[in-house]
Amino acid sequence: MADTTKKEDFANEIIPIPETIEEGVQHVNNPVLDLPRIEKQYLTTVKGYTQDRNVFYFTDGRAKVEIKVFSEEIIRVRLAPEGVFLADFSYAINYKADQYINYQLAETETHYLVKTNAVTCYIQKDNFYVSFGDTDNKILNADFAPMHWEENVDYGGYYVYCTKQAQADETFFGLGDKASNLNLRGRRVRNWNSDTYSYAFNQDPLYKTIPFYIGVTDGDAYGIFFDNTFKTFFDFAAEHHDQTSFWSEGGELQYYYIHGPQMLDVVKRYHSITGTHYMPPLWGIGYHQCRWSYYPEAKVRDTANEFRKREIPCDAIYLDIDYMDGYRCFTWNKRYFPDPKKMIADLAADGFKTVVMIDPGIKVDDQYWVFKQGQENNYFCRRGDDYFMEGFVWPGRCQFPDFTNPEVRTWWGTLYKGLVEDGVAGFWNDMNEPAVFGRGTFPDDVRHQFEGHRGSHRKAHNIYGMQMVRATYEGLKKLYRNKRPFTITRAAYSGTQRYSSVWTGDNIATWEHLRIGTLQLQRLSVSGMSFCGTDIGGFTGEPDGELYTRWMQFGVFSPFMRVHSAGDTRDREPWSFGTEWEVICKKFIELRYKLLPYIYTAFWQQHRYGDPILRPIAMLEQHLAKNLQREEEFCFGDHLLVSPVLHPGQLNKIVYLPAGAWYYYFSNQYFVGGQEHQIDTPLDEMPFFVRAGAIIPEFPVMQYTGEFKIESLRINYYYAESSVESYIYSDHGDTFAYEQDVYMDKHFIAEGSKQSVSIRQAEYGLYTPNYSSFQLYFIGLPFTPKQITVDGIKVNLQQDEEGASYVQIDRDFKKITLQ
Ligand code: GLC
Repeated sequence: MADTTKKEDFANEIIPIPETIEEGVQHVNNPVLDLPRIEKQYLTTVKGYTQDRNVFYFTDGRAKVEIKVFSEEIIRVRLAPEGVFLADFSYAINYKADQYINYQLAETETHYLVKTNAVTCYIQKDNFYVSFGDTDNKILNADFAPMHWEENVDYGGYYVYCTKQAQADETFFGLGDKASNLNLRGRRVRNWNSDTYSYAFNQDPLYKTIPFYIGVTDGDAYGIFFDNTFKTFFDFAAEHHDQTSFWSEGGELQYYYIHGPQMLDVVKRYHSITGTHYMPPLWGIGYHQCRWSYYPEAKVRDTANEFRKREIPCDAIYLDIDYMDGYRCFTWNKRYFPDPKKMIADLAADGFKTVVMIDPGIKVDDQYWVFKQGQENNYFCRRGDDYFMEGFVWPGRCQFPDFTNPEVRTWWGTLYKGLVEDGVAGFWNDMNEPAVFGRGTFPDDVRHQFEGHRGSHRKAHNIYGMQMVRATYEGLKKLYRNKRPFTITRAAYSGTQRYSSVWTGDNIATWEHLRIGTLQLQRLSVSGMSFCGTDIGGFTGEPDGELYTRWMQFGVFSPFMRVHSAGDTRDREPWSFGTEWEVICKKFIELRYKLLPYIYTAFWQQHRYGDPILRPIAMLEQHLAKNLQREEEFCFGDHLLVSPVLHPGQLNKIVYLPAGAWYYYFSNQYFVGGQEHQIDTPLDEMPFFVRAGAIIPEFPVMQYTGEFKIESLRINYYYAESSVESYIYSDHGDTFAYEQDVYMDKHFIAEGSKQSVSIRQAEYGLYTPNYSSFQLYFIGLPFTPKQITVDGIKVNLQQDEEGASYVQIDRDFKKITLQ
């Protein structure tokens, strides 16, 4: 722990100097008013403490610091400069303490120690430094300076700062959708949700605010979640090589220390307080086709027919803004779509779900029912001087609902009724940073109800999109009754995963952006937003067949798989680039459909346990320093590893395989892990490996989810001389009955040795799937089995048309043995 630095050493440290006057406030030597510089103030020495069960209040005589034991592994820190805390409210947190927490306070000559069975929080008496360590007294995260603040002379409140030590080897992950290298060391970033059409590598900020990072030092990981909705900043050893700072332009200094030491556990614990995604409808993880925009109706029908004609699987087709009447949300352009209900029903009969766009800007039009209702009920945001917040978006002059008002959210939820009755199955919320043409977003003085904790737009900006999609989700949940909604949002704040999937906004059709997409999705996934995707093919610009196809390959391993493109681009359907590319795209979309039961299981693990779906190598092998820098390979769920091809004309690729052994999916070739391999990358393959020892379920190829009933589910066992656990989850696919345990969660343990294999299974839940048996295939067996028994009864190997061997076994077998 650093404890020798004096307060004066920090007098000149990081100040968030605004880049433009509009973006921030001039609070340093204000040239107009000639105000004196407001000095930063620091906590001084600990004078004493009080305790209220698991909450401790330490004071320096004036300021107060709250240390709250949230769980054995999570401790929250809050600062009240004048000793008075703000109301304890957060849009991000969704936590119900359900276990007994062990904690105690100890005191030494120099420190107070708040201890649980996993973490010790040290509060140093002479300088108020707060640090965290494990039970072996190893410090993982320590203050570099005491928490500090600065009065905000323009708006009231404070700029609040926290400066931590950055260890020489420390690497940093997280922060949502930042289009940067995975390790954020050396970067300063900020969070201010922004509409960033055609963004660039390292451009910051983008659409989302996820003020959560993971630090890894000496092989151990911890997390910090700075739950503050104002504009926030993070500096990861950029300004000072030995310091990591985070600060905000307002609100409270409030952060959660989340213990690891495994990175995976940090993310799961972050999910334990901010929630996980509900189980998406199965069709929501199929292949989706979108563009700006498919219209009129004939175009939509033709596109859908073309998929079926060419036998390329597809579950959803999207209608972007042009389906609306003059871009008025919740209306139809009747010229383009004279009978939407009929069209949607016909599409549904052919296995297509229809998803439509809804934006927050409501056209100022006295004849428009949504505008009238919003006006009559006073639901639209107002400026500080009481004028309505008006701005131009697609429909022209608009007003904007205040989604931070629960009454407005309820109203917004009801507006979907007509579209739901028309048969629309999913909704896509866009422009909700909120985006306003010309000026970017709302001015700072716009007022928000904020659940009764009123605030200006400075406080509400970063959660506006989250509350919009929350309103959408909650409304749809009522309208669809027990059916699961499907929602997508562009803007988000921590916790949005409880309401929606996300996509990475307006990317570009370049190879660089394909790479950026792989970074963004890995980052989103470790930042609590696993249900994420990019615009496959790139939103702006024109991909060639190769880029489109390579992106489609990455798309198979994107939790949300959707092709989308801007209005002025050429066709972007899987067949648009000619037969050569169509054949490969079809093969890969079919692969997605084969993997659906595995992917659905990964979503269950996300929903139930908070496991991120994409896992960077850094997360798998955090103890190996060089692996903390790897960013091209990642795991997709527990057992699949991919390394997308990111360059044109690439013939092969060096791929690192984590420890253990792996099978190359397309040939079943066996590779030893813990080292790099050179892998050929012909256009119709990509580096895609299955962990040895895993059991991977595969659906037969369908044109859409649920097209036909599966009688016998194929499961592939990839032999390993070790014991590996695998899971298969299934449920209705579209209801919330899983919340009442109506699901089937199968756990397999496969144990391989030189001369035998045994697979045992256990099952949880109340659901009975359609299939009554498994076809168990064996890959890589080093011996020819002489005897196979299932629950003690002998069975024989069978051969399929391709000559591959399998055994047909009852779905509820207990144990199968091969010798
Ligand atoms: C925004 C969205 C994009 C959409 C377009 C028109 O740019 O990011 O996905 O197609 O608006 O609605």
